[in-house]
Amino acid sequence: MTELPLTLKELTLKTKEKYISYYGCAPQWIVAAPGRVNIIGEHTDYNGGFVFPMGIERYTILAGAPCSESDKIKVRCMRFNESVLININKLNRSEPIWSNYIRGVIAGYQERGVKIPSMNVIMNSNVPLGGGLSSSAALEVATGTLIEAAAGIEFSLQDRALIGQKAEHDYAGVPCGIMDQFISAMARKDQIMLLDCRSYETRWTSIKDPDVSFLIINSNVKHQLASGEYGKRRAECENAAKIMGIDLLRDATLQQLENAKVQMGNTSYKRAKHVITENERTLKAAEALEKSQFEEAGQYMYQSHESLSKDFEVSCEELDQIVLIAHKIGLSGGIYGCRMTGGGFGGCAIALVKTTQIQQITQTIEVAYKKATGLTCSIFSSRPAMGAHKIQI
Ligand code: GLA
Repeated sequence: MTELPLTLKELTLKTKEKYISYYGCAPQWIVAAPGRVNIIGEHTDYNGGFVFPMGIERYTILAGAPCSESDKIKVRCMRFNESVLININKLNRSEPIWSNYIRGVIAGYQERGVKIPSMNVIMNSNVPLGGGLSSSAALEVATGTLIEAAAGIEFSLQDRALIGQKAEHDYAGVPCGIMDQFISAMARKDQIMLLDCRSYETRWTSIKDPDVSFLIINSNVKHQLASGEYGKRRAECENAAKIMGIDLLRDATLQQLENAKVQMGNTSYKRAKHVITENERTLKAAEALEKSQFEEAGQYMYQSHESLSKDFEVSCEELDQIVLIAHKIGLSGGIYGCRMTGGGFGGCAIALVKTTQIQQITQTIEVAYKKATGLTCSIFSSRPAMGAHKIQI
């Protein structure tokens, strides 16, 4: 069944009510930051390449107000019914795990000379967890947005995103690229962001046509090895670039790669081949979507999946099944293209579909996925949603 999540307005209201019942006063600031889905351009960001993500209509919300205790931030998490008291002057990696994203962002603002106000905070979210939809980036960017609101300062969205990325590196131990935090901070309603991850230049593509939609299909699989494998892929890409005598794979051509193949070995060769071809596909797919050439964009999505599965080896059996099922449904069944999205090893696939056929497509995928894997997938559609912002209360 297609899920019907709470709207941002409903989520905000619930968070506000919870704040009042938990802390006995009204919040002074409420901020929201979205999860994201990447249409195409996977594992290209840390290679200085191109990505093409959008914000989704799933948000992490933080509500806060000053508290009397000095140098403390108390956070109550509605999702886990857990609380944590963070000492602003003694930041380190600690339990619960989700609090590290907040600790890391506090540290980032402190490093930039910001005096962090003491606060009581409520955190709420409807971004699926562990689904590759950047629930962690949403929390990092929401934390930055709240700190700025409370401290009465305004950093650039780029700085806010970079602080989030550093928190992920230093406090969660994930050597991620810049895509997730950039899109959560900068996302625009009804637009997809083409980001050059080297120059940070952006180009926006409007998707206003109501006849096409993005369907997010969560395999509900999370493989444990994911974070270690992510670091390994990064290292393999860096190795390939080094052998070709360049800083970033973004600058490599297929010809250069072929010339270095023997010296490089098969694994780094395949990883680099994915990155080089994915960068090209991303630019072409963005152009196709800009011109409403949906069939063409869909083909690039299928090719991207093939490359991620065979050359970059970050897919898994369940995601491959979803893409296979989508391919079988095909254009006559309303699907232009489909691919895994995000870091991989489980999580979600994204499909570009005809809006009128969403219901039928959803039913068919659910049944076929269950039959192929024995698992239940969750499916929802999302328009490109607005990035992090303060909510008027
Ligand atoms: C994760 C990382 C991103 C990016 C993607 C793969 O989401 O956080 O920086 O590398 O994987 O495209």
